[in-house]
Amino acid sequence: MTATTSLPLSVEWKDTYIQLLDQQKLPQETVFLELKTIDDVFDAIVTLKVRGAPAIGITAAYGLALAANSYETESLEDFHILLKKDRDYLATSRPTAVNLFWAIDRLIQISLNASSVNEAKTNLVHEAIQIQLEDETTCRHIGEHALSLFQKNDKVLTICNAGSIATARYGTALAPFHLAKEQDFPISVYASETRPVLQGARLTAWELQQSGVDVTLITDNMAAHTIKTKNISAIIVGADRITANGDTANKIGTYGLAILAKSFGIPFYVAAPLSTFDLSRKTGEEIEIEERNPREITHLGDQAIAPEGIPVFNPAFDVTPNDLITAIITEKGIIRGNYTEAIPTLFHN
Ligand code: MRU
Repeated sequence: MTATTSLPLSVEWKDTYIQLLDQQKLPQETVFLELKTIDDVFDAIVTLKVRGAPAIGITAAYGLALAANSYETESLEDFHILLKKDRDYLATSRPTAVNLFWAIDRLIQISLNASSVNEAKTNLVHEAIQIQLEDETTCRHIGEHALSLFQKNDKVLTICNAGSIATARYGTALAPFHLAKEQDFPISVYASETRPVLQGARLTAWELQQSGVDVTLITDNMAAHTIKTKNISAIIVGADRITANGDTANKIGTYGLAILAKSFGIPFYVAAPLSTFDLSRKTGEEIEIEERNPREITHLGDQAIAPEGIPVFNPAFDVTPNDLITAIITEKGIIRGNYTEAIPTLFHN
């Protein structure tokens, strides 16, 4: 029994529909949705019912497989046209996490090998399931590598939710904490609430509490004071897109934490699978940063907390420059230093 088996799966293929954990309802309610159409999948991604780069990728892959199963054509050529159209539609749901594009393009590639429409449909479902299975193994390896960086009784700060429910299982940045719990290796986690959508307060606090990990919630503006007064030994975060030079897009607020880590002289770690690397972009300057609805900032639930009509800037992510990142932890191992040289070695081994 692992520390994550008590947690619900974020997404599951059920042949005629996709079962999705509604992350907007957590932590008050554990509700599962049945996504039956590609529009359901698109809506679930846009409205953050599923979120976290790997979980978005897995869900989008299942969404494409689901859509393909509904095509009535017998012509492989028409099948590919329909599939490409649905791939392009899903690609407009959220721009920053590269795992979305990685997963749906992997399905497109697989479909090209089929010699009939039926074979293509079957292969798409298998490939989407494979993506989910691989992600679980990947995250476990990330967790093992990450845990090797921590000492007993370390106090570690994290932001957003890069956990089990943001992936197939275990998570990326939260994987070492789940594994530490399995091994009775004491680590304390400080979870930053992560305004404006509160993934830290609603999801990380809940997920780690469910797994029995020692977790304490703080608001984002308490980070510096907490690092100082609680002797935080390291910061670990997930990633939505890592460019060829190691620049890393992650939840808004991550960049500020990296600057704090440097100022306090503590390590700042990024944990991510290879599917989060985008070697087609040289630097973080080339990453599109999603801007979301102002209402996420002007309202808490249905309650307005700002004057009506106030201009709002609501970027969902920021980019941490590579020189602030102590190490990047992947399923293939840990890289440091010159990321432009180190990243390609991950893909060649
Ligand atoms: O807007 P979200 O909740 O999808 O943002 C999620 C993050 O920034 C995570 O840190 C990242 O996707 C890694 S999840 C393993």
